[in-house]
Amino acid sequence: MTAPVRNEPTIVEVDLGPRSYGIVIGRGVVSSLGTRLAALRPAAKAFIVTDENVARHALRTIESALDRAAIEKSSVIVPPGEGSKSFRVFERVCEAVIAARMERGDLVVALGGGVVGDLAGLAAAVVRRGLDCVQVPTSLLAQVDSSVGGKTAIDSVHGKNLIGAFHQPILVVADTALLDSLPRREFRAGYAEVAKYGLLGDAPFFAWLEANWREIFAGGPARDHAIAVSCRAKAAIVARDERETGERQLLNLGHTFGHALEAACGYSERLLHGEAIAIGMALAFEFSAHRPGLVSKSDAARAIRHLAAVGLPTRLQDIPAPLPTGDELMRLIAQDKKIKRGRLTFILARGIGAAFVETGVEEAEVRAFIERKLSER
Ligand code: GLY
Repeated sequence: MTAPVRNEPTIVEVDLGPRSYGIVIGRGVVSSLGTRLAALRPAAKAFIVTDENVARHALRTIESALDRAAIEKSSVIVPPGEGSKSFRVFERVCEAVIAARMERGDLVVALGGGVVGDLAGLAAAVVRRGLDCVQVPTSLLAQVDSSVGGKTAIDSVHGKNLIGAFHQPILVVADTALLDSLPRREFRAGYAEVAKYGLLGDAPFFAWLEANWREIFAGGPARDHAIAVSCRAKAAIVARDERETGERQLLNLGHTFGHALEAACGYSERLLHGEAIAIGMALAFEFSAHRPGLVSKSDAARAIRHLAAVGLPTRLQDIPAPLPTGDELMRLIAQDKKIKRGRLTFILARGIGAAFVETGVEEAEVRAFIERKLSER
């Protein structure tokens, strides 16, 4: 399969009845942001939330796009990084939105990666009991995952994303040219979430990724195609299970192990979210391969080989020292997902492209598996 060559943007619909919206994907599509917003919400004002890094690269472009459509605008710039998903920064953003006299029907524009999307999305959900939100994701991770589906949140001292709301955007504009300036490591970490869609439900897409990942990293039509396929997969799952009561849990493939690893590394540069998810997915496939009737050892090895081929970490030993202990990881897994009567929910795999939700995984089995993986050299 080769990626179709496109000049026109791709539009993926998220079908949620009266709350349906489009994801516009393509190079240069942010220049159409103003006209798209003016068509969706005539006369609405826009309030842009962004971070210092993104502001340097993209704020002027967005402001010009809004100016061309005569959209009144203001903005707030927050520090980059997970630290901005705090009550302190959230308060600052909410107060800035209110001070800019944003009313119901006006728009909060989240311009940035996952942190900005989550933070601005939550502000939009609660200020004046709900403003419309537009997501303009600027990282690969945000374009294929966090900007789509309406999850918004800030962090609690007890854990990540514990204070949040479902608040669907009215539009997502994913300009793939914005990814050209991403550091290689960050792009690669976002790629873990692209591979996730192949691994969880689309074996032909995974095979296409194995053959075409270099073109995706280089940019051009293959990149746009991979983002569109990922968004289509997420949109379909969200349309069927918006509130994560069932199928949407599949999007957490690799996240139970991954969140524990991220927490053990203090949510720092030591291990980026996507890197933790890559190790988490590798562990989920290996864990599955030990169970009778699930993914074969050779397919588990194939899944892991691809993640390693693009340069993602796949082993606990790939984490810069010191390695977390088994006790620490089990404590973090319990905190993240809650062990109920000694049993955990995990996303396991019957094969590549065939993930499923397993609610009855014994804590003892996970502990023994982790201890075994930690003892490997
Ligand atoms: N990132 C997982 C989800 O949106 O459900």
